[in-house]
Formats: sequence, structure tokens, C-alpha cells
Amino acid sequence: MSFMQRRLNDPAGRDPRKPEADPVAETPAAPMRPVTPAAPPPPAAHAAGPAYVVPDKARTPAKLAYLRKLMRAKILKSPDEADTWTRGDAEKETMLSIRMRAMLEKIASERREYALNPSEFEQLRDLLLDDLLGFGAIQPLVVDRACSEIMVNGPEIIFAEIKGKLLETDLVFDDDEHIEYTAQRIVRPLGRTIDRNQPMVDARLPDGSRVHIVAEPSALMGTTITIRKFPEKRLTVEDLIKFGSLTPEAAEFLKACVHSRLNIVVAGGTGSGKTTLLNVLSGYIPDDERIVTIEDAAELQLAQRHVVRLETAPPAPGGDGKRGMLTIRDLVRGSLRMRPDRIVIGECRGGEALDMLQAMNTGHDGSLTTVHSNNPRDSVARLETLCLMAGMDLPVSVIRRQIVSAVDLIVQIARIKDGSRKIVQITEIQGMEGDSVTLQDLFMYRMPGQTTLAPASIGGGRLEAMGYRPKFIDRLEENGFKLGGRIFGVGQKPPGAK
Ligand SMILES: Nc1ncnc2c1ncn2[C@@H]1O[C@H](COP(=O)(O)OP(=O)(O)OP(=O)(O)O)[C@@H](O)[C@H]1O
Ligand SMILES: [Mg+2]
Repeated sequence: MSFMQRRLNDPAGRDPRKPEADPVAETPAAPMRPVTPAAPPPPAAHAAGPAYVVPDKARTPAKLAYLRKLMRAKILKSPDEADTWTRGDAEKETMLSIRMRAMLEKIASERREYALNPSEFEQLRDLLLDDLLGFGAIQPLVVDRACSEIMVNGPEIIFAEIKGKLLETDLVFDDDEHIEYTAQRIVRPLGRTIDRNQPMVDARLPDGSRVHIVAEPSALMGTTITIRKFPEKRLTVEDLIKFGSLTPEAAEFLKACVHSRLNIVVAGGTGSGKTTLLNVLSGYIPDDERIVTIEDAAELQLAQRHVVRLETAPPAPGGDGKRGMLTIRDLVRGSLRMRPDRIVIGECRGGEALDMLQAMNTGHDGSLTTVHSNNPRDSVARLETLCLMAGMDLPVSVIRRQIVSAVDLIVQIARIKDGSRKIVQITEIQGMEGDSVTLQDLFMYRMPGQTTLAPASIGGGRLEAMGYRPKFIDRLEENGFKLGGRIFGVGQKPPGAK
């Protein structure tokens, strides 16, 4: 793997965090904060599989780690000098290399042991450029196109999702200060700060990637950085079919539903593929409709032209922590005055759910959103809870009726045990029976010959039709979608279905 090859292995296996890093310093190196020992691997996740193997860590050789730290602090004329510079900018890299060479000559003239041979200098220059212009130790992951997520659990443990597989990498930050330097380098150009007053930051990088940083005192393993990289190209429905996330028949059905202006909620857990699926579904909205998208961090990539993209705004810097802030809820309310044909909300996480339901019930049919939940019934409960958060003091029964009359379909997606993402249920909200909501599964992810009625959670299954036509079939037909009984598996109810 590219970043593994590029990393330098210290043949002596020394730990650069130990004071031996500079045995001959005139002034002792600044005392380093103790690093919390690496946590053992999570037992539950690995208990059933083979023993967890911690990869050999590719540490910076001690001499280079010492110089890297010393020079990193001094090479820029001011801490923010390089805020807008990027790794790969040849002009800036040359200028910084010249400064490095001059600084190193001075250090080596006083202390010969820090004279570097050309290959050591090249290594040091690359490491420093990663720190000053890039993202420090995780720079190789940031530029690796196959990497979609980066998780830094303190300096010692760095996980990444590469080609859909989550693995612990051999990368490490040299020490706590190194990781803090990178955290500052991420947030400072965005006009944000991370310090004792604001130890947690949610931000978006200029390329659209999402970053979440937690620092001390809450982050017990050292500064924690999580980056969800912005995909250069979102997956298409063809990709999802190829990966087995859904079948062509289910895709045809979902296309008909979006076209016919059904209100659809995509539900799933963290990282299950909700936004990707929302993007695919939004892609089915006809070109002549006005779409308003509302997101916390704009991730949707719609091909249509008549799209208004809105994103929440954090409070203005230096204000009272509220001024200048726009929440999803503010934006949903505002969007109703923008004559939208469709409202697409990236995720409902709070009181905006109530505004959305009201919009769906008052002529903004065909709206789409996602919620965080594990099954369709949970999604209804989750929507109820979110609506209660709007603080309107409505009885649950009223909210429940609003949900039932607004939402037509729940599409449940999950990351199953083999790490792949599958649509596991496509469920119609049919109505109420007394106080309870009636749901009908139209499609379910099942294993061959499965007789139980819960979706399968392992690979090797298929999203099967359950043998029922939805109640809203007339709406699909009015919109020109004459889906045969074949799509719904009518006449061939799978084993176990009523
Ligand atoms: N069906 C799929 N098959 C394979 N990879 C997928 C699929 N759907 C999404 N992914 C990938 O999984 C990662 C997470 O996807 P996505 O952002 O859509 O998830 P999410 O549920 O919205 O996450 P979050 O809970 O963080 O908002 C992305 O890298 C995406 O490209
Ligand atoms: Mg998402």
C-alpha cells in the first residue's frame, strides 16, 4: 500500500517520544506529555474472528522526529503563514525546502550529529511538508483515493476505511503535540479554534470532507480526529446494483416512487450509506422541478440544474455563540418560502422533523430525508421523538398521525456483518390500526430459503419482493409507471410471508 511503503521504519525500533530523541540538546526538549497507553483492541468486535493483529507501526526515526518537531515550530514566519498553502504547491514547497536547508545547516554546524545525508534530508523535507502544508501523519491517507474515512484515536492508533474495509494502519503521529499541530492546521484556516474553551469542533474541509475533532480534556487517548472524505464521485444506482446493495427491480420501484412524489425516509445507522442512497433517490427527481437541499455539511451531489443548496451556518466567530447561526430547522422553515417543488433534507436530527412533516402534508409531496435508526418501526418512533424536540407540546398521537399521513415509504439500509451495505427493507407505511402504525414490508434482504421474517444480517442474501403490491400503486400508475406484479413478487410469496 502506498502509505505503508512510503513510511520510514526505524531499524533500531526506538520510540521517538522518549527523551532519548535528543540526548545532546543544549536546552532540554520541552517535556512531552505522557501518552496514554494504547488501548487493547475492542474485544467484542474481534472475539468471534481470528486474534486481532496490531500492525507494526512505521515510526519516524528518532533523529528525524527530533528535527521535525524542532523545525516545525520555527520554519514558518507566523503560525498562520501556510494556512492557505497546500501540499503539492511546487513553489511553496521549494521555498520551504530552502528555509529547511538553511535551518538544518545552522543546527548541524553546532551539532554534527544532526548533519543529514541527502536521503535523510529528503525524508525530513517530506515529513515537514506533510506537517506544514498537509495533514501530518495522515497525509498519505488524505491523498489516497481508495480511502474514504480516517479515524485518529490519539497519536498511536489510526484506522482507515480503504476500499470499504476498515483496518488499523501502520501510521502514527510522533507525539501529542504533533497531532495537536495537525488539528490546529485543519481548523485554523476555517476560522475555527480548538482549545480548552472549545474542545470539540465539527467542520468541513475546503474539499467538502467532514471533520470532527475532540481534544483534551474529553479525548482520553489524545486528540481524536475523524475525517469522512468527500467522494470525488458519489456512487450511482448502477454501482449500488453492482455491489448487491439492491436489485434492478427494487431500483425500478424506487425510481417510480420518487417520480410519483412519494415522501420517502431513508433510515440506517452511522456510515450505513444513507447519504449515498439519498443522493441516488434525489437523482430520480425530474429536471423541471425546483429542488431545495438542506444539509448540515453539504454532501449531496445532484446533477439537476434547478437546485438550491443550503447548508447550516455555525455561529459567527467572536460572537455570543448564537449570532449568525442557522440550523437545519431555520433552513427548512425558510425553504418553504422559496417555492420548492421538493425539499431534500440531509438528515433529520431534531425539531426540523416536525416542520418537514408539515411541509410534506401541505403540498410539498415528494420530499426526501434520512433518519438514524435500525429498522422501519424504529424510524417511526425516532421521527416521533424528533418531532417532540420541536417543543410544540403536541400529543404523541397527533404526531403519529402526522407521520402516517406524511411518510409513504421507509427505505432501510444497513452495513451488514461482511462490511457491505445493503438495502435490507423497503417498507410502506399503510395507516393506523387503533394507536399503532401499520407497516408492510414490500422488499426484504433475505438468505436463500430463509423462512424467518427478519432481514438477514450476513452476506449471500438478496433483496426479495415480499409478494405485496403497495397501497399507493394507483399513484405510480397515474404517473405512468405500470409496474407488473413481477416486481412485487405477486403470486410468489417468499417462505415465511403471511
Ligand atoms: N451501497 C454501498 N456500497 C458500498 N459503499 C457504500 C454504499 N453506500 C455508501 N457507501 C460508502 O460508505 C461510506 C459512507 O456512506 P454515506 O456517507 O452515504 O453513509 P451515511 O449513512 O450517510 O453516514 P453518516 O451516518 O456518517 O451520515 C462512503 O464512503 C460511501 O461511498
Ligand atoms: Mg450521511
